[in-house]
Amino acid sequence: MCGIVGYVGPKSTVDVLLGGLKRLEYRGYDSAGVSVINTLGTLETRKKAGKLSILVDDIYKTPLGEAHIGIGHTRWATHGAPTDGNAHPHLGGNTQKLSLIHNGIIENFSELKSELLEAGVSFASETDTEVAAHLIAREYDKTNDLIESFRTVVRRLHGAFTILVMHEDEPGVVLAARRNAPLVIGLGEGENFLGSDVAAFVEHTKRAISVGQDEIVILRKDAVEIENFAGHKIEREEFLIDWDASAASKGGWSSFMAKEIADQPQSVADTLMSRVSSDGTVHLEELAPLTSLLPKIDRIIMVACGTAAYAAEVGKYAIESWARIPVSVELSHEFRYRDPILTPNTLVVAVSQSGETMDTLMATRYAKEAGATVLSICNTQGATLAREADAVLYTHAGPEVAVASTKAFTSQIVSMYLLALHIAGIRNTRSLNELQDTGKNLLKLPAQIADVLSNTQGIRSLAKAYKDAETVLFLGRNVGFPIALEGALKLKELAYIHSEGFAAGELKHGPIALIEAGQPVIVIVPSPNDPDSLHAKVISNIEEIRSRGAKVIAIAEEGDQRVAQHAEEVFFIPKVQQMLAPVLSVIPLQIFAMELSSAKGLDVDQPRNLAKSVTVE
Ligand code: F6R
Repeated sequence: MCGIVGYVGPKSTVDVLLGGLKRLEYRGYDSAGVSVINTLGTLETRKKAGKLSILVDDIYKTPLGEAHIGIGHTRWATHGAPTDGNAHPHLGGNTQKLSLIHNGIIENFSELKSELLEAGVSFASETDTEVAAHLIAREYDKTNDLIESFRTVVRRLHGAFTILVMHEDEPGVVLAARRNAPLVIGLGEGENFLGSDVAAFVEHTKRAISVGQDEIVILRKDAVEIENFAGHKIEREEFLIDWDASAASKGGWSSFMAKEIADQPQSVADTLMSRVSSDGTVHLEELAPLTSLLPKIDRIIMVACGTAAYAAEVGKYAIESWARIPVSVELSHEFRYRDPILTPNTLVVAVSQSGETMDTLMATRYAKEAGATVLSICNTQGATLAREADAVLYTHAGPEVAVASTKAFTSQIVSMYLLALHIAGIRNTRSLNELQDTGKNLLKLPAQIADVLSNTQGIRSLAKAYKDAETVLFLGRNVGFPIALEGALKLKELAYIHSEGFAAGELKHGPIALIEAGQPVIVIVPSPNDPDSLHAKVISNIEEIRSRGAKVIAIAEEGDQRVAQHAEEVFFIPKVQQMLAPVLSVIPLQIFAMELSSAKGLDVDQPRNLAKSVTVE
């Protein structure tokens, strides 16, 4: 959950580190720090509790020395409160010449700490991390070999970690190790980088290598070596990052979230790019590794968390309806603890923006061990999930920096439509015409999203009007149900308002007791043309709550004349094939949550207690 960056090269190291941390701040933002070895050969460290800007201001007032090697960290606290002392880097040894940063949790830290305390080591923080710094420094004092000392210690650590280390006596090298936490190398000319993800260095280089599980990196300005924890050399292929560096900056928007919401016509177009031809035929070459399996799968299990799980819920409707394969969606953290039934004909689809969510990674590993095949739907190139899956369908939404997921969500849904159409084509469960018509409808989505985005004044004003609401309820049916859940999640995480999403038909089975005079309820209304008469049923559901005093805000299809008579406010989305409506109906809900958060004066991009990428279980 923390962000880490490392650099060796000719550029101003403090600038490289702070620039990288800015792009990684979404991973944790309760404290930040850097260490450099300056050109006089001295290790300098600066760290501060609070947002990165506090550290930046501090360094601006009292600059660190010129340096060509350094490490930086932005923290999401696990052990120890967010204070200056607990911020990383941590220094090791009596001489304090070793500096270390860490992302993850060292599970056996208390036992290691007792060993160090008995040996008379004193601690400056309450973190689990500091033990690693002291252990490596102690080994180095004995062996005078930093790489060997590093190997010895990382082999002793349990849990999840990416660790970066520098030592004043070895001023040309940064060492890194990873287990169950992300690490990517950026390859430059006469300079090299390390980062929790490629965003850390994409403005400097597009060439990257993803580091594998239980591997060590020895990073110098003109050489990068990778080895396993036993010291055996490993070759890893490099890949080219297709993110544009400017895509990871706000570009004039008031927040990353505002920009990412506005990005959606483009991000959805990028998800579709070269995958749907103009006649509506879907081609997913990335699924070649699944060619022999797809005709015979008898079940799909989707594993994901949070927003990604709601995207998976929409995918379930599409796959079951078009490809006629039973799909279940499981929260990753529940999945592997309930002894699920997996066979060689089960396809597990792991959905994750970051590709580093530990719960989803663990679910994936469990599924593979049990003999299932794993497809990942992932947004981040080089992510662990992408590397560990049997096949990857990249969402290509571009970097998502705001903690609350928006454009990744719509691209995940669209990726699942593509998957559903691809499987339906292979299994002949729908006629070619039907599949191509849907493919053509997918191609219309970017323009339809732009249409929704061009008319948001009403929903923005509504958000301001509800800034003091204590509870907001969301209702939906069919594919509108996961959108109701997503709307409620966005509001909780951004505006700290209690909100719940319900299937509209479920209300009368209990939740209707919550309705009292003035209660705002946002309802996702299906198309009046839907073949299952869901529209009429939702209108009845609306009447049930209105007669008990609820204030109904409807998201409905353009031209739906009836709905206005049943709601205080209606926001229209373009007419679209019912299955595809979630990609449009979620947008007003994203804007509602964002505007309500701003109206309350909250930090839209970095809501309290959260981090974008949850790399601990
Ligand atoms: C909510 C949100 C989270 C993530 C969840 C999974 O806005 O962003 O609920 O969707 O933590 O993250 P990924 O997709 O990176 O696995």
